Amino acid sequence: MKNVYVSVTIASALTVSVVLIKQELLAQKTNSRSDDNTNSKIAEVAGPKSNNAEETPIFVTEIPPGYRDWRLVSVAREEGALDDIRAILGNDVAIKAYREGTRPFPEGTIIARLAWSLVPSEENNKAFGQAQSFVAGPKKNGVQFMVKNSLKYASTGGWGYGHFDNGKPAEAAVLKSCFPCHEAFKGRDFIFTDYAP
Ligand code: HEC
Repeated sequence: MKNVYVSVTIASALTVSVVLIKQELLAQKTNSRSDDNTNSKIAEVAGPKSNNAEETPIFVTEIPPGYRDWRLVSVAREEGALDDIRAILGNDVAIKAYREGTRPFPEGTIIARLAWSLVPSEENNKAFGQAQSFVAGPKKNGVQFMVKNSLKYASTGGWGYGHFDNGKPAEAAVLKSCFPCHEAFKGRDFIFTDYAP
């Protein structure tokens, strides 16, 4: 008789705990389902906005007027496939920031990169009496610009990238390559060239 009583007590205790566990599981399920719903609602609201602001790069499609009159920042020579000689020019905002060491560059900064093939100059060599002179030949590798506008070009570090061959803007595929490489200099506001005094 005592044994039966003990068994009944154990059995009912087990039933109670099974019911409790079931309820607990059900509650968890309901909770996680409502969490999912909330998350997907947040995603719906945030989705389209973040696409526009962060994922679609915008490029410079018009040549900044008067750039050929801008002042010199520095020069560079690229070998390899580029094989050119280049000049980096800046508009007034750029030159002021360079000279005063202002970083990040202010809104309205524009930096241009011009390039030419590097050719020997027979005329100059005659004057020197030996072959030693190289000068800028025909234009090469297009003209490039970086335009600072933090809102407009938010998706590419605040800089708009432009590349023009004979006045015509390059395709988006070309322009998409600019930011990933310049990003290496993120700590210097994405600009490689230092001011050559
Ligand atoms: C593989 C890396 C790489 C890619 C891709 C690249 N650049 Fe540059 N860019 C450089 C380096 C390095 C310099 C500095 C030396 C020089 O001018 O050759 C530079 C210089 C510049 C400058 C002068 C300012 C500065 O940062 O020194 C401009 C403007 C510029 N690039 C624009 C562009 C544009 C526009 C594109 C895309 C069409 C582009 N770059 C693609 C590496 C790159």
